[in-house]
Amino acid sequence: MIDKEYLFKYTEYSSYRELPEQDEQLVADAKQAAQNAYAPYSNFKVGAAVLLKNGEIITGNNQENSAYPSGLCAERVALFYANAKYPDVPVIAMAICAYNKQGLLKTPVAPCGACRQVMLETELRFKTPVKVILIGEDYITVVDNTSQLLPFNFSSKDL
Ligand code: THU
Repeated sequence: MIDKEYLFKYTEYSSYRELPEQDEQLVADAKQAAQNAYAPYSNFKVGAAVLLKNGEIITGNNQENSAYPSGLCAERVALFYANAKYPDVPVIAMAICAYNKQGLLKTPVAPCGACRQVMLETELRFKTPVKVILIGEDYITVVDNTSQLLPFNFSSKDL
């Protein structure tokens, strides 16, 4: 028997102004994208901004549906659109934020498990780490790659 530990490395920024300029832009774009979310059922508006290796930024937001499971999270809307438009261009970073009725969440929003799985697929597909910027009002958490967000993940290696 052997006990093992998993090391999770991330960086906390006390303000988005501490971020590199390109990341700051992604944060602004994610916030802007959240404003256009279609979230009449949850009133929880999520925005995601995806940076591609060609410099283009693609944004998305959550799209809800009266048949609840038919909706989709902001992260997947943004990533699927980015991959649909540029199937050969790696994604290098993404920023995510969420607003509830009180405004921007105080602590960084955590992407759901299904989105983490799709983020991981993107990283593996392009063999390029995807930096994840999780936005909160009080601080911002940055993780250098998505696989860290999904330990013991399932991927094509298991098929
Ligand atoms: N949501 C996202 O867009 N991203 C996440 O990572 C978590 C949840 C959306 C789905 C739904 O429209 C609303 O937030 C409440 O769960």
